[in-house]
Amino acid sequence: MSSVRRPVYLDYHSTTPCDPRVVKAMLPCFTENFGNSSSRGHVFGRAAEELVEDSRRRIAELLGAKASEIVFTGGSTESNNLAVTGAACARREAGDGNHVVSCVTEHKSVICPMERLDEEGFDVTMLSVDERGRIDIDALSAALTENTVLVSLMLASNEIGNIHPIGEIARRAHEIGAWVHTDATQAIGKVPVDVNELDVDMLSLSAHKFYGPKGIGALYQRESPRRIKLKPCIIGGGHERGVRSGTHNVPGIVGMAAALELAVQEREEESQRVSALRDRLESRLMEEIEGLVVNGDREHRLPNNLSVTIPHIDGEALLLSLDDVAVSSGSACKSDTASTSHVIKALGWGDEDGRGTLRFGLGRWTTEEEIEFAVGRLAETVNHLRALSTL
Ligand SMILES: Cc1ncc(COP(=O)(O)O)c(C=O)c1O
Repeated sequence: MSSVRRPVYLDYHSTTPCDPRVVKAMLPCFTENFGNSSSRGHVFGRAAEELVEDSRRRIAELLGAKASEIVFTGGSTESNNLAVTGAACARREAGDGNHVVSCVTEHKSVICPMERLDEEGFDVTMLSVDERGRIDIDALSAALTENTVLVSLMLASNEIGNIHPIGEIARRAHEIGAWVHTDATQAIGKVPVDVNELDVDMLSLSAHKFYGPKGIGALYQRESPRRIKLKPCIIGGGHERGVRSGTHNVPGIVGMAAALELAVQEREEESQRVSALRDRLESRLMEEIEGLVVNGDREHRLPNNLSVTIPHIDGEALLLSLDDVAVSSGSACKSDTASTSHVIKALGWGDEDGRGTLRFGLGRWTTEEEIEFAVGRLAETVNHLRALSTL
């Protein structure tokens, strides 16, 4: 009998537990420091404002940005909506153009705003990818015109882990005057993220993906040499210099700063440890499960990601039989229907075979014993399902 604590959590791309050090930093904000940071007329409000501004400075510094370039949001879905819609609308209103470029493998929080822009008369180009999920940079260059105002491409994929060459993409996009946004949600704490090295104009992040709390994120927006001025999506009291109204989530902001500090400090060591575990998971699964295919770009991928497809297996059925290992299927669950995800389909998998996709996300507390346990349970379950299907 294995001594591994169950269920084993291998879904760190979906979300992460809050690090106890982060919780500790947040706790006083629920009780003693509970003020509204906009209520500057008294000491409670001013204390909260100080916490918000101190967190903003620390987050900015960790990303290579200035404090005034950080906008707090409710997470990456909101940051992506604000970046895509806010930039496209502002630039069209300024008469700069109405062409925007993104990619079919982006997160839905970029794809859906792109679809809405299309409905609103923008000219939208969605780049395709090859069978490993790689973007063709020359195809990107060919798509750019003097009418292009925005290029939005993720730094790292939440499904297959691919890391895109954002620096090179930004260089090409800037040549024709487009603004560049990257969704760095999955990259923070796994690969270096510096807005100047990446040369991006906007960057999205979300605390719950790096051991911080849920419901808090940020959008970096560059001030120079390109002065990014976004059309706000959420309007009201004029918080965040009018870019995003709404009372600050002070515990969340303080927690995000603490989590980002830990993520940056511990990145190198943690990534090395986790990628060794991921490599072990990959080779053990290949040994144990016949026909298993590894998805994505194995040379440029997140250290904690493994996406595999097991043809002729239904990922959802597999997960239902696997209640002591938490992984994600490669399906996009929209309300009550499960279908093969748009990312897996973009690699060329059909709806049927693509359903056998599993996404593993390893993290800060993943152990070797957990990996061995997961491999054993998976192999056993796949063999059981295969035996049933031959029956
Ligand atoms: C790449 C990527 N972008 C955006 C999001 C949305 O983030 P949030 O949960 O903070 O809204 C996610 C979360 O699944 C993600 O993985």
